[in-house]
Amino acid sequence: MSKEALLIFDTTLRDGEQSPGAAMTREEKVRIARQLERMRVDIIEAGFAAASPGDFAAIRAVAEAIKDSTVCSLSRANENDIRRAGEAIQPAARGRVHTFIATSPIHMQMKLRMEPEQVIEQAVKAVTWARQYTDDVEFSPEDAGRSDSDFLCRVLEAVINAGARTVNIADTVGYNIPQVWGELFKTLRERVPNADKAVWSTHCHNDLGLAVANSLAAVQNGARQVECTINGLGERAGNASLEEIVMAVRTRKDLFPVETRIDATQIVPASRLVSQITGYVVQPNKAIVGANAFAHESGIHQDGVLKHRETYEIMRAEDVGWNANKISLGKLSGRNAFRSKLTELGIELASEEVLNTAFARFKELADKKREIFDDDLHALVSEEMITPENEYYKLVSSKFHSETGELPSAELTLSLGGAEQRTQSTGSGPVDATFRALENVAGSGSDLLLYSVNAITTGTDAQGEVTVRLSKDGRIVNGQGADTDIIVASAKAYINALNKLHAGPERVNPQL
Ligand code: KIV
Ligand code: ZN
Repeated sequence: MSKEALLIFDTTLRDGEQSPGAAMTREEKVRIARQLERMRVDIIEAGFAAASPGDFAAIRAVAEAIKDSTVCSLSRANENDIRRAGEAIQPAARGRVHTFIATSPIHMQMKLRMEPEQVIEQAVKAVTWARQYTDDVEFSPEDAGRSDSDFLCRVLEAVINAGARTVNIADTVGYNIPQVWGELFKTLRERVPNADKAVWSTHCHNDLGLAVANSLAAVQNGARQVECTINGLGERAGNASLEEIVMAVRTRKDLFPVETRIDATQIVPASRLVSQITGYVVQPNKAIVGANAFAHESGIHQDGVLKHRETYEIMRAEDVGWNANKISLGKLSGRNAFRSKLTELGIELASEEVLNTAFARFKELADKKREIFDDDLHALVSEEMITPENEYYKLVSSKFHSETGELPSAELTLSLGGAEQRTQSTGSGPVDATFRALENVAGSGSDLLLYSVNAITTGTDAQGEVTVRLSKDGRIVNGQGADTDIIVASAKAYINALNKLHAGPERVNPQL
């Protein structure tokens, strides 16, 4: 039986970016977009162009870099947002504008302060404006999950008539359960007279832990596009996770009349890259991409798997890319091998000069660490992507002291916008001393929300990857740092977070 296409619409760079502190730089977005393209994602939602000039530039950069996936920008249903979205996607080989307006009584009355008729009128105008920039227009009734289905039918019929090619039914607050969500799709597709003129899409949030289940119920009831994110990143409890959707449809072919064109072997590399860039660590027991997803602990299970893999495994680890973190390079690798490995990983450095610095740092790392893995290279180039404009604080040198019976201390030399300054402090441990020393100079007055250390690869010579989450006046930023010395990695992560606070472009929230 031939299967229909299920389009995968990845919104890691837009809804995923709405996770606290997960804001990404332009270069980071381009790197993730390249990985999504390699994974053969159909549509990449690269951001919300009207949110800030930085968001606009990032979408444009993604639109310039990506050839095989459609590049999309979100926009509220107003003329200015749509113009910004239309301009941002303009360089794309295939560009989409995704416009939305809320349709639930609570959102219309309390947030928009609009009458239902005005909402329909605005939705139609929005789609008509968007069509001036591209034929590929998507419309979302926001909070559809709490909207009246008669009203939804009217809105959807009107926007499809106005030229929306995709209608995306959003469970914005993750309120639904699979049976209800599936029925809503069935009802809408039966009752909207021009339903066959659009692709039906589902966008589910995970507040009740049901985003994937709800999305799959929608697919069984006619949805042919799923909006999802890598690692399930996203506003509050996140979105439906791409890896779970793709592998559910693939593993249970018997239940789904659809197939995706995703190259599943790129899933684990994508998960690692997103985690590394956003600082959102993947829980070990997370389906598909968690470190334990394919680990068998019980003796009975191990015995079973050794005798016949399928006794306890429904998927193969290698099919989702678990072996993809290969040994990349070693101490003797030259500049050309380094360059071609970066190209293979989809990493483009801004100039020869940046490549030279990255290569010098690679050699330093190779001196400390026998084998360099793909993940080490991602961590290494992350630091090379830092541009002078977003690096006000820079670590010049460091010295730490920790001895039984003595108070741990840190002595650091920093560069502040080019001027060197020394700082020191003691603390309850070397990390505490380091953070205190940094605060003596920066005086950010921020609160430390999270400090986490992860080994990037295995072995005691692995680089430690540190995430530091700071909060200041309601703004949350994540800083990352990697080094074989975890105190240095901690200092780098804290400095990275301070730089983000220092640069911090103000953004408009797309849900407003
Ligand atoms: O959750 C939501 O409603 C959204 C829309 C903008 C599609 O993210
Ligand atoms: Zn959303």
